[in-house]
Amino acid sequence: MGTKKPRIVIIGAGMAGLTAANKLYTATGFKDLFELCVVEGGSRIGGRINTSEFGGDRIEMGATWIHGIGGSPIYQIARESHALESEQPWECMDSCPDEPTTIAEGGFQLTPSIVEPVATLFKNLMDYAQGKSIQDRAGSDYSNLSAKALKISASNGGQRKLSVGSFLRQGLNSYWVSKKDQGELQGYGNWSRRMLEEGVFAIHENIQRTYTSAGDLLSLDYSAESEYRMFPGEEITIAKGYLSIIESLASVLPPGLVQLGRKVTRIEWQPEEHGSSDKEKVHGARPVKLHFCDGSNMLADHVIVTVSLGVLKAGIGEDSGLFSPPLPSFKSEAISRLGFGLVNKLFLQVEGDDFNKFPFLQMVFHRPDSEFRHKKIPWWMRRTATLWPIYSNSSVLLTWFAGKEALELESLQDEQIIDGVSTTISSFLSQPHKQDNSNSRELCNGNMNSMKNCHESEVKVTKILKSKWGTDPLFLGSYSYVAVGSSGDDLDTMAEPLPKHDNAVSPSLQILFAGEATHRTHYSTTHGAYLSGLREANRLLHHYHCVEVKV
Ligand SMILES: Cc1cc2nc3c(=O)[nH]c(=O)nc-3n(C[C@H](O)[C@H](O)[C@H](O)COP(=O)(O)OP(=O)(O)OC[C@H]3O[C@@H](n4cnc5c(N)ncnc54)[C@H](O)[C@@H]3O)c2cc1C
Ligand SMILES: *[C@@H]1O[C@H](CO)[C@@H](O)[C@H](O)[C@H]1NC(C)=O
Ligand SMILES: *[C@@H]1O[C@H](CO)[C@@H](O)[C@H](O)[C@H]1NC(C)=O
Ligand SMILES: *[C@@H]1O[C@H](CO)[C@@H](O)[C@H](O)[C@H]1NC(C)=O
Ligand SMILES: *[C@@H]1O[C@H](CO)[C@@H](O)[C@H](O)[C@H]1NC(C)=O
Repeated sequence: MGTKKPRIVIIGAGMAGLTAANKLYTATGFKDLFELCVVEGGSRIGGRINTSEFGGDRIEMGATWIHGIGGSPIYQIARESHALESEQPWECMDSCPDEPTTIAEGGFQLTPSIVEPVATLFKNLMDYAQGKSIQDRAGSDYSNLSAKALKISASNGGQRKLSVGSFLRQGLNSYWVSKKDQGELQGYGNWSRRMLEEGVFAIHENIQRTYTSAGDLLSLDYSAESEYRMFPGEEITIAKGYLSIIESLASVLPPGLVQLGRKVTRIEWQPEEHGSSDKEKVHGARPVKLHFCDGSNMLADHVIVTVSLGVLKAGIGEDSGLFSPPLPSFKSEAISRLGFGLVNKLFLQVEGDDFNKFPFLQMVFHRPDSEFRHKKIPWWMRRTATLWPIYSNSSVLLTWFAGKEALELESLQDEQIIDGVSTTISSFLSQPHKQDNSNSRELCNGNMNSMKNCHESEVKVTKILKSKWGTDPLFLGSYSYVAVGSSGDDLDTMAEPLPKHDNAVSPSLQILFAGEATHRTHYSTTHGAYLSGLREANRLLHHYHCVEVKV
């Protein structure tokens, strides 16, 4: 190792960066084997974990759920740090148990007889795409229909570059074809049966857009979908806030190790594996030079880059030049091909006598070009699937946005958002639930009174809080997905250190990459980020034969 301790600089104090710092610091038995620091461009730690407060409740602006508690390292930290109980109410403290109420634009509630077969079809299609075995729903007469639909869709699955979006629509079309022999079913009001079914299907597509961050499911790769893994078990939120996981990881680090307000503007590295004497000519012994926004710089032996895929995409752009020299093409092409989408959350504080009965609302919209659409509902609300209180009695409502609707949300004034959401709520909840159709009982809940009673009083939105992941220069989006044209291999390529070494020389590991977008099977999640941070810390520990030093 020589007399100088190796200097490791981690860029970014989010989940990946702090996990790597925690591992490097604790695995060496606090023996100070490295000069270690974390440089963070923002004024807080946590990155895409941003626990906040709104209307007296604890809410999450970014990461929200532990996606499966079985075997999740995040769950383990949460439990060990006693983060799973709290006195203060928090988002989804009751895991949002209410049955959804599905209402169509214009204001009438749909019965399970129309909602459930389409929901099951959608679930079966997604399970199939994700390679899960489809549960046998014996006795349900739509299970055969969706099985047929699956067969037709899957025969197209061999196509290269099939998207999840087109797979889903093929499944829906096959479902309709297979049902044709059952005769035309009656619609309701100005909705045909098929329009309602398509609207229910669109709810699930829109939920999928927020899960994956693919603004358009036609750009989400079909074959990569089956590589994605989730932990088994319940999905829960964290009572003391997601930030408590971050604080737990950071708590072992000595003060000053994490430096805030240190935005890196350029990473100079040595692409050729020179002998050490050549390196010394350039920067002394340390091959990497970091430049910061305040004009200062810092030399390092190893840099772990954990910035988002969005920041990397911007960084390899013509006039940005985050890397100097630019990244080799195998790396920059993977960065370009992979998808990085936008998802935003909107919280609304509501007022009204009866708002505590606000339903777990699922919204069926007319198509944007439909002559029947309510013209005052803004376009950016029309792909919003759900609107619901963050727990049973909360006066705070939550709704999720994806894609261009999510980006639009960031540019709107609060009053414009309040206006657009209020118009939508009243179109869905305050219209008279007329039953002017003799067949309506089949599709609509006959007992409208229970619904009406809940919403007769006006629901008034008093204030809002929204996330802004798309325009914040430290993120430039929400999380990654495998876009059509890329593959799981690109996620592996993301994780490869630089310079790429041939087997003859020991790699110098100048630039290492961690972050959610570098994990092949757990990308887009906090635990994916966590595992990637561990991976890169271990790579360096192994490099210095430090693994045994662990106490
Ligand atoms: C709305 C939303 C909802 C989500 N929901 C969930 C969920 O329910 N469950 C789940 O598991 N995951 C969820 N995620 C994803 C999860 O938040 C991320 O996958 C994870 O937090 C990413 O961690 P990271 O360390 O890879 O990146 P980040 O958290 O982005 O950390 C990178 C850090 O680098 C900093 N940085 C950027 N550029 C520079 C620079 N030039 N110089 C210095 N510092 C820089 C950033 O400020 C940031 O702090 C959600 C994300 C969003 C946005
Ligand atoms: C489902 O398909 C099987 C054979 O494929 C058939 O025997 C069965 O009757 C079908 N069930 C329904 C409800 O259509
Ligand atoms: C569609 O139906 C709703 C509810 O019955 C009604 O309020 C609306 O006026 C109708 N729209 C058109 C364009 O007919
Ligand atoms: C919500 O309020 C009702 C009565 O208004 C009460 O019975 C119930 O326990 C409350 N639920 C929660 C989760 O606070
Ligand atoms: C993080 O949360 C705060 C509110 O607590 C908010 O002002 C800020 O915009 C959030 N960051 C992002 C990127 O959404």
